[in-house]
Order: sequence, then C-alpha cells, then structure tokens
Amino acid sequence: MSLTKTEVYTRSRSLSVIIPTYNESQNITTMLDIVSSCLPPWTNAEIIVVDDNSPDGTGRIAEEYANRSRINGGCEIRIINRKDEKGLSSAILAGIRASIGESVVVMDSDFSHPPETITKMIEELRKSDCDIVVASRYVEGGSITGWPFKRKMISKGATKIAQRSLGIKIKDPMSGFFAFRRHVIRNISFDAIGYKILLEILVKARGAKVREIPYNFTDRKSGKSKLDRSVIQDYLRSVWKLYRYGKPEKEKRTSVRFLSKAGRFYTVGASGLLVNYLVSFLFGAVLSNLWYIYATMIGITFSMTSNFILNKIWTFEDRNTTARRTLVQYGTFLAFSSIGAAFQIGMVYLLVGTEHVNYALSLFVSVAIASIGNFILNKKWTFKEKVWS
Ligand code: GDD
Ligand code: MN
Repeated sequence: MSLTKTEVYTRSRSLSVIIPTYNESQNITTMLDIVSSCLPPWTNAEIIVVDDNSPDGTGRIAEEYANRSRINGGCEIRIINRKDEKGLSSAILAGIRASIGESVVVMDSDFSHPPETITKMIEELRKSDCDIVVASRYVEGGSITGWPFKRKMISKGATKIAQRSLGIKIKDPMSGFFAFRRHVIRNISFDAIGYKILLEILVKARGAKVREIPYNFTDRKSGKSKLDRSVIQDYLRSVWKLYRYGKPEKEKRTSVRFLSKAGRFYTVGASGLLVNYLVSFLFGAVLSNLWYIYATMIGITFSMTSNFILNKIWTFEDRNTTARRTLVQYGTFLAFSSIGAAFQIGMVYLLVGTEHVNYALSLFVSVAIASIGNFILNKKWTFKEKVWS
C-alpha cells in the first residue's frame, strides 16, 4: 500500500504541542504567535488547542488564527472544540489522543509557562535517554513569580502529599508543563480527574525515566485562574485513586474479606473501650465538680463517635464523606449501638436472673451475640454492603 503525499508528511511529525484553553481570548493569539515561532522547523510540529467551548469565544479566535496560519504556510494548528466535556485533564488527554507527534509537550495558554523553555525540553528529551521531561519550579534555578503566599502553600502542600503518598521522587510532580515520548502512555488507562494529568502519568508509567529542568512560572497577566475549591477536592480524590493503583488486587475470597472486616470492627470496638475509659476518667478527674454520671456519658459519646469514624474510614473504607450521608450513617450507627446495649442488658438479665447461668458466661454470650449482630447490622444498613461480601 502506498502512502499519499500528505500521509508521508503527517506521519513524520516529531512534535505535538497541546494547549488547553478556557476563556483565554486575551492570550490565545499572542500565545500561538510565540509558540509557533519557538518551535524548531525540523520538528515539523503541530499545535493542538483544546477549548471547552469557552464563553469568551477563545475557540473561534483560535480557529480563525489556524485558518490564517494554514494560508500563510505556518506550522499546523488544529483546534479541538469540546462541546459536551469539561475539565483540564480530560482536555489535555483529548489533545494527546488527537495528536500524532512522536513527542508531546503540554503547556498552559496564559504565559505562565515560557514558550522558550519548550526548546530546552525537546533538547533534553532528544539528547538524554529519558522519557519524560518536566519543567520544574522547584529544582535549582526554577521559581514562581506573582503567586500570593496562600497559593504557594497550597502548591507545596499538594506536592508533599504526592511525594509522600505516591512515592514520587521528582520535585515538581504538579507541574502543568511537561514533555514526553509517546510510547510512555501507550498502555495507560487514564482516570483524568481534575487538574493533574502529569501526576497520573508519573504513577502509571512506572519505569519511565524522568528529568526536570528549571523554569520560572509567572502568574497570568490577563484572565483568571480556574483553580478553586473543587479543584482541591478533585486533587485529593485523584491522589486516593492513584494510591490504590497497582496495589494488590482486592482479596478475592469472600470469607477472608468478611473476617478481615469483622477483625477491624472488633479492634475498633476495643479501641472504643479505651477511649471511653480515658475520656470518662479525664472529665471526672479534671472537672472535679462534674457529676460522675455525666463524665461517663461524655466518655460514651466520645467512644461511639471515634468508633463510628474509624469504622467508616478503616473498617468499611467508605470514602463518601458528604455531610448528609455521614450524618445519616452516624445516626444509624448510634441507633444500632443503643439497640446492642439494650439487648446485652436484657440477655444478661434473662440468663442470670431466670436461667441461673453464671454471670461471667452470661456476659460473654450476650456480648458476643450483641457485637456480631452489631457488625452485621452496620455492614448492611449503615454502610450499605451485602452481609456476605
Ligand atoms: N480546555 C480546558 N478546560 N482548559 C482549561 C480548563 C478546562 O476546564 N481549566 C483550565 N484550562 C486551561 C487554562 O485556560 C490555562 O491555559 C491552563 O488550563 C491552566 O489553567 P489556569 O486556571 O491558568 O491554572 P493555574 O494558573 O491556576 O494553574 C497552574 O498551576 C498548576 C500548578 O500548580 C497551571 O500551570 C497548571 O497547569 C499547573 O498544573
Ligand atoms: Mn494560569
């Protein structure tokens, strides 16, 4: 099969530059001007703008620019206009999927990422044996200009979280400015949650060689940053997903899963006894004029609450922490605990009082039944799992 002229031409692209945009009408033309003039001709590069139907008309402006550039024989610029989808990571991914270059560069469209650095990145990719080059604010020579203290702190904190919990070694895994060889992502299936597509690549392309080169991040002059509260939430969600990624599969045997949860439930119960004792004691001792019954009630409240939190997070691994759901669960949990306590009292009364079984044995039997019942009821009704699962 012979190739047509355009196919030969397009198949030999060695670079694709992906630029996601949302409301960047003030930046996009200058950006395309500068980026296309920075790209070495030998790369035969394409630039792909991925716009999420920006209300300020960025997509249309970019489209017009691309048409002019085609006529003037400039480097190829393509626009992907997404009508139904939104989100930075998924936009970048759409750009990567549509691209054909052997190497890919991803960058912002608001001049925070200096276009001149692209040349250094592709040089690095070419001359060293690495697969990913990250433009980094946190290696020597890198810096941030124009960010308020709070934003710097958030960025540092998020970086630490990524490094500690995901075992990532590089200094700036949160960078939005990076280049990689296409083969790196060949077998990756992406979640593309939120902002941090590089982080996902770093976690899932284990074994890829990564290098960082310094650059100066300058906060945008025009337009607004899109980072808000939900971005932070998305970030934590994606770190959690990446944390689970590649961990040994969930245990397959139902019996082992059931017993391991039951074990955790009992451990939590035991920790509750300790909390109960310590808190009651502290309140009783420190506030000496507090009636000891009140101190005991406070102790019980504390331990039920700590039991609930631990069971939610640890025993049943429930990550849905919306206020409404959590409150309903807390209420259900407290109700079952009270039923358990009432059952235990009733049972001891029955066994000792009317059946004349000795107290130690009666207590043991009723505690055992009440706690097994509690485990099963909470599993099914509070945390909505199948009992045998
Ligand atoms: N298509 C698309 N869809 N583009 C988006 C979206 C979206 O939902 N949200 C943001 N963008 C584009 C913006 O137009 C900009 O070009 C780039 O993505 C970065 O968005 P900003 O809103 O300017 O981000 P920032 O300056 O707060 O965040 C920067 O810092 C992070 C590191 O902490 C960016 O450089 C990030 O890429 C970087 O990871
Ligand atoms: Mn920005």
